[in-house]
Amino acid sequence: MKSMTPREIVEYLDQYIIGQNDAKKTVAIALRNRYRRMQLPKEIQDEIIPKNILMIGSTGVGKTEIARRMAKMMGFPFVKVEASKYTEVGFVGRDVESMVRDLVSDSINLVKEEQKESNKSQIDEYVIKKIVEKLIPPLPKGASEQKQEEYESSFERMKQKVIKGEVDHLKIEIEAPKKSLDFGDSSMPPEIIKVQESLAKVFINSSKDDIKKEVTIKEAKELLKIDASDKLLDMDMIKSEGLKRAEEGGIIFIDEIDKIAVSASSSNRQDPSKEGVQRDLLPIVEGSSVNTKHGSIKTDHILFISAGAFHLSKPSDLIPELQGRFPLRVELNSLDEDALYSIMTKTKNSILTQYIALLDVEGVEIVFEDDAIRALARLAQNANEKTEDIGARRLHTILERVVEDISFDADMHKGEKIVIDKELVHKKLDDIIENEDVARYIL
Ligand SMILES: Nc1ncnc2c1ncn2[C@@H]1O[C@H](COP(=O)(O)OP(=O)(O)OP(=O)(O)O)[C@@H](O)[C@H]1O
Ligand SMILES: [Mg+2]
Repeated sequence: MKSMTPREIVEYLDQYIIGQNDAKKTVAIALRNRYRRMQLPKEIQDEIIPKNILMIGSTGVGKTEIARRMAKMMGFPFVKVEASKYTEVGFVGRDVESMVRDLVSDSINLVKEEQKESNKSQIDEYVIKKIVEKLIPPLPKGASEQKQEEYESSFERMKQKVIKGEVDHLKIEIEAPKKSLDFGDSSMPPEIIKVQESLAKVFINSSKDDIKKEVTIKEAKELLKIDASDKLLDMDMIKSEGLKRAEEGGIIFIDEIDKIAVSASSSNRQDPSKEGVQRDLLPIVEGSSVNTKHGSIKTDHILFISAGAFHLSKPSDLIPELQGRFPLRVELNSLDEDALYSIMTKTKNSILTQYIALLDVEGVEIVFEDDAIRALARLAQNANEKTEDIGARRLHTILERVVEDISFDADMHKGEKIVIDKELVHKKLDDIIENEDVARYIL
């Protein structure tokens, strides 16, 4: 687990998210507390449960973005789910426990990738050896010493060729890796998945042993890698490590939690399914055991972060028990013109950089003048005020309008440098934003 200080975490987040300092701070402290807890003796460790976070802020102000960036940075198992998905359990929805199962899968994948990375040389070695064995005839039994030496040197020569990719185009026959038995998605109860798997095992084992397949060496390298990681990696270790990691370091981000709140004012009709979901969430957030196909997992130390706009409802419209499970509240501010400007100019891989990179592929160089960016920010702000406040997402719709034509005719502008100035921005957008009705539809 990375030992970044809260300050360092916030600094990292600052590269991607403008403002929202309270939220960043809260999240950073929560993460640091994880680390602190791990340093303690076991008996205190068990006592300390994470303080779950509730993020409140209108749409497009960076709630999801903060959670996503943070999980990526820390290498924690992370899943993001939408609370409203669970309101239709039994029809098309999913049961609430599936979020924990998803977390476990994510965690196991994480560990598996790490293992692959650290066993990379072993895996490569295995793959190359397999391929070379196909390319040169095997040594007959009882061969003389001289023959053996010859064999070894030609083996070595061929090996170099394979590594360098000189024979990538040749075709060889390999045993296609057996279909992996990893199926059944997390919405199914683990018991049923187990039954399915054992059935499948019977069928696969009874079928003709290996399916031979003719592929180029290039493809074989990839295919055999899968085979190799199955053979060389210790799946049992990976599973138990994955479970442990999810248990100790997992983060579940529950988005749109406001959608399952039942607003007291507008509820002439109590919504049983929404409240039901809240009740289902309780034990999971509180800490309970969930069965997964890899084993059972305790949810006590999983960090839950929930987020919602809470336009139509308030956090107090959640059932009291659930409110209490999210003691840390942070509000995210709406984005003003300056913030929008900074989002375009100061973030890593900002939306402008993305457009520049995309058009660069076509050989078109576009340059955004500074007052054009200012104008974009102002117009985005205008549009947010006049129609609906969709935060930074507005930048996407607005910018798309401005760049649309250039983007469409990119092939005709190959090799050119196109400057996007204030005039162009106003030309494309003024009419639309002036007219509220048009803006509602187009932007
Ligand atoms: N403060 C910010 N700084 C930088 N980029 C931002 C900021 N807020 C939003 N964005 C950008 O806007 C987009 C939407 O943000 P995000 O997904 O975080 O919204 P949200 O707050 O989760 O909204 P919703 O309530 O609709 O889920 C993302 O692409 C993100 O990069
Ligand atoms: Mg979101």
